[in-house]
Amino acid sequence: MKIGILGTGHIGTTLVRKLSAAGHDVRVANSRGPDTIDADILANGARAVTAADAVADVDVVILSTPLGAIPKIAPLFASVGTGTVVIDTSNYYPKRDGEIAAIEAGQTESEWVAEQLGRPIAKAWNAITSASFAQRGVPAGTAGRIAIPVAADGKRERDVAMKLVDETGLDAVHSGPLSESWRQQPGAPCYCTDLTCEEMADALAATERARLPKRRDLAIEAIMERVGDSTTNPDSDYAVRLTRALFM
Ligand SMILES: NC(=O)c1ccc[n+]([C@@H]2O[C@H](COP(=O)([O-])OP(=O)(O)OC[C@H]3O[C@@H](n4cnc5c(N)ncnc54)[C@H](OP(=O)(O)O)[C@@H]3O)[C@@H](O)[C@H]2O)c1
Repeated sequence: MKIGILGTGHIGTTLVRKLSAAGHDVRVANSRGPDTIDADILANGARAVTAADAVADVDVVILSTPLGAIPKIAPLFASVGTGTVVIDTSNYYPKRDGEIAAIEAGQTESEWVAEQLGRPIAKAWNAITSASFAQRGVPAGTAGRIAIPVAADGKRERDVAMKLVDETGLDAVHSGPLSESWRQQPGAPCYCTDLTCEEMADALAATERARLPKRRDLAIEAIMERVGDSTTNPDSDYAVRLTRALFM
């Protein structure tokens, strides 16, 4: 498939590497321009382009930017055909993204993103830490393979997202429509806890919505205390120990 990826940060970098290694025609953009993209992530054949070129004439667009950047990105989609599947990896962190009234009032993050873009999306890869994603993907069928939830309303978005998740070394579990995707938001039992496919259904069912924001903020406080800033991600072992203790 022709895949455009917006964002070359913690998650976008691994998406570029894995999806180009899987044989897809990947083009990638950040906010600053193609010249600023590290050649190292293009080693499997991906191309650095502008954000406008990343979304033009592709089968799939993957958004891997801060959620707060989505309104700035939305105008790019004015000329993107309805045949292009959009998959969003983002999570809402109010200290990073600014307070968003609709999400604070109960709209799911993915519904808000779909509304900003004016089109359907799938939500995937949001519930795995960048370290686990980069280091712990394994081929399908491997015992203990990590599973992640994929939320989508449409069959096409769901099927494409689940296929690509599998190609990045993870089991994909359909978690339901976007309206239920609070079950995979920060603070949820399945969020960054590296569960298997067998464990995912119970984790989704056990999610207590009202507790998510407080748990999310506790995790961020603990991570910042440990790593000392808001941009470094913790190592996989620490992140999973922390999220399991707080969210499950
Ligand atoms: N970090 C994790 O462990 C993790 C795990 C799962 C999901 N997520 C979610 O996935 C998303 C990305 O996270 P991340 O940690 O990879 O973020 P990150 O390291 O901060 O990288 C963000 C990327 O988005 C790009 N970007 C920002 N605004 C843009 C715009 N208007 N147009 C094009 N590109 C733009 C940035 O470009 P520049 O490079 O030019 O600044 C950067 O490459 C976030 O919503 C996050 O919550 C993160």
